Amino acid sequence: MNQDTLVQLAYIAASVLFIFGLKMLSSQRTAKRGNVVSAAGMLIAVIATLIGQDMQYQWIILGILIGGAVGATAALRVPMTSMPEFVALFNGFGGMASLLVGWAEYQRNLPVWAEGEAPYVTVIAIAIAALIGGLTFTGSLIAYGKLSETINSKAVLYRGQQIVNAAIVAVALICIVVFVINADNPAIAASYAPFLILVALALVLGVLATIPIGGADMPVVISLLNSYSGLAACAAGFVIMNTVLIVAGSLVGASGMILTAIMCKAMNRSLGNVLFSGFGAVVTAGGTAKQGEAKPITPEDAYYILENARSVVFVPGYGMAAAQAQHVVRELGEILEENGTEVKYAVHPVAGRMPGHMNVLLAEANVPYEQLVEMDEINPAMESVDVAIVIGANDVVNPAAREDPASSIYGMPIINVDYARTVFVLKRSLASGFAGIENDLFFKENTRMLFGDAKSSVQAVINEMKEDA
Ligand code: TAP
Repeated sequence: MNQDTLVQLAYIAASVLFIFGLKMLSSQRTAKRGNVVSAAGMLIAVIATLIGQDMQYQWIILGILIGGAVGATAALRVPMTSMPEFVALFNGFGGMASLLVGWAEYQRNLPVWAEGEAPYVTVIAIAIAALIGGLTFTGSLIAYGKLSETINSKAVLYRGQQIVNAAIVAVALICIVVFVINADNPAIAASYAPFLILVALALVLGVLATIPIGGADMPVVISLLNSYSGLAACAAGFVIMNTVLIVAGSLVGASGMILTAIMCKAMNRSLGNVLFSGFGAVVTAGGTAKQGEAKPITPEDAYYILENARSVVFVPGYGMAAAQAQHVVRELGEILEENGTEVKYAVHPVAGRMPGHMNVLLAEANVPYEQLVEMDEINPAMESVDVAIVIGANDVVNPAAREDPASSIYGMPIINVDYARTVFVLKRSLASGFAGIENDLFFKENTRMLFGDAKSSVQAVINEMKEDA
């Protein structure tokens, strides 16, 4: 068996591992193993690509050392709450890597093509890698800024915005055509100029296409950019004719698209509506949240109500992640169960700041999978729930989404905690959530506010329960 066959076999093995790893990621029970299986596939793919090549390995090793050190340090230091923006950044770097692969390959082949003929597949793939990779890079940087709140997360809208974006796309497509036609033109500038303009337009487009998207829509944007980074990698795979890169890129592109569709469904929006409507632009205006008097309670009051509850549903949100309250929440859940209460955890698809955010935290705290329920499952049963405990969630339980057509989140499905007999809301203040809108839930007749850091509040309730035991 020659070396080429061995490499191709290794690629097939890596692709199979990717597919199995991806399948495992779809269930919490197998997700960790899925990650390891996919990573093993990637290791095989990298080794198979590097061995037997006529290359200067010292550069590769230097790159791995520098990149590995930066990546490992960042991964070790980043707090769990900053994971979403970290993921956004990863997508962006993936896009930039594809752009650079395309550019390097173009640069390398320029002299050869100028004297002969340029292969169309490679040239078109270079252009696609530059366009999608470039816009993924800057789009992801904007998503990073919005998620980390280093830039304003509200939608930025201006007159004629869609016409400007459409014009940029049109000019970029013209550049691609001119670039492809001239790739083997002996006058190098004939292809280099449209290529450079294409790269610049792609970078500008990433910014302009992401700024009109409001904070509440960031889940969709992140999964879409994730998908784009896969498509850019796939194009880069065609540039260097590397089958495993084509497979891996297609898998990321396709799974990102599926995730985007799931996120759109969770927010009851179409993708076109998310990308072009500037949803969430009007934040405090528009909604008619009726301010009233919130009813604060103490941990002791909460304990008296919980002691007699037959069913309790925890509804976690971003605040649980911020407070790192998942372990005490699980502990409270266990105490309630010992007391004969039926305990469930209802997870909204866009709770937190990244897909599956709450599931990861609850799994980390060893909450039994059987106790996790999805929004569609818990909502019809909510009226029979004695106490719904909202742990640092806000937008995903805001009744304005159901009741107030003037609200900017109107139409987004929510977990109907206000239908439960009693609702506890654990947060530090009456401040709004990520979408920046008021929440009527805090002033409802059956709502009780337990103010404070979610972890301290839950711990205080646990202490009350233990004292009385
Ligand atoms: P949010 O609406 O963001 O509300 C979180 C609440 O947590 C805040 O109102 C805050 O209130 C509270 N909080 C913060 N730190 C806390 C702490 N230490 N202890 C207790 N409470 C704390 O969260 P959500 O309901 O999970 O909704 C998610 C939002 O993020 C949606 O708008 C969604 O569209 C968006 N988003 C989601 C994703 C994905 S994929 N999940 C990605 C990007 C954006 P206080 O300040 O009063 O404490």
